[in-house]
Amino acid sequence: MKLAILGDLHIISPDDPFPEARERRAHFAQTDGALKALRILVRQEAPDLVISVGDLIDWYSDENRDAAIRFLDSLGAPWLLTPGNHDIAGYIRENGEVTGPYETAQIEEAARKGWADAGIEIGNRAIDVGFARLLLLDSAPGEIPTQTQQWLEENLTESANRSADDKTILFTHIPFNIEAIRRFITSVEPGRDPHKSLQRGMPAAIEDLLVAGMSMVFTGHLHFFPGHVAVNGLDMYLLPLSVISAGRVYPRQGTVTFLELDGSPPRQVLLDPAH
Ligand SMILES: [Fe+2]
Repeated sequence: MKLAILGDLHIISPDDPFPEARERRAHFAQTDGALKALRILVRQEAPDLVISVGDLIDWYSDENRDAAIRFLDSLGAPWLLTPGNHDIAGYIRENGEVTGPYETAQIEEAARKGWADAGIEIGNRAIDVGFARLLLLDSAPGEIPTQTQQWLEENLTESANRSADDKTILFTHIPFNIEAIRRFITSVEPGRDPHKSLQRGMPAAIEDLLVAGMSMVFTGHLHFFPGHVAVNGLDMYLLPLSVISAGRVYPRQGTVTFLELDGSPPRQVLLDPAH
């Protein structure tokens, strides 16, 4: 069983109704070449399953959603999405002026309805594939709702009690706010407040549960801080962008992560932009 794990893509459709936003976000609006190279790479690797860890689109509109669905459908494998903050954010036009992106409750609700209308599930899910259990945790709101915390605690407790051969792998957009991750961020950018880029509201005890219950955690969101952080046998992969932006310098952008569920470590492959 082979997974392809995609970091942030920030897809923007040329048909999106906010050309002003497209212009402001030109670095993500002009990524056709990179997406084509990504499609070629994933099709060559022929994974059994593709998982997007969110920020699949740059902001929610039906047009961006549909462009992203078309893209993932073209990769030749079934796919799953755990959403990012951008997947539930949106722009508005008021008195002729376009502002945003906003993450208001109203916009989030409309976006969640939009994903559901298209048949795309973005909530918390546990999926068993062979000996592995995949957990998809919805961290898109940043502040993790109590319901999600309870769901995770139950699953982590269960995973900690499974046999050592049965791996549990977690996928979520925003990394956990735990000490090793905070230390990693400040090691790359001293002086930065790491709390601002991480999940909010999770109880501190989640760290012990994570270490006891998980073997690997894959996250997106931190465009400037890709890396690998290990704590007591738990491997946390902070994924780089899987797209190559038009002109912005993000470390290791255009990286796709492949994972065989046979205990071997993930393999990260850079896109070949010559494609
Ligand atoms: Fe992102």
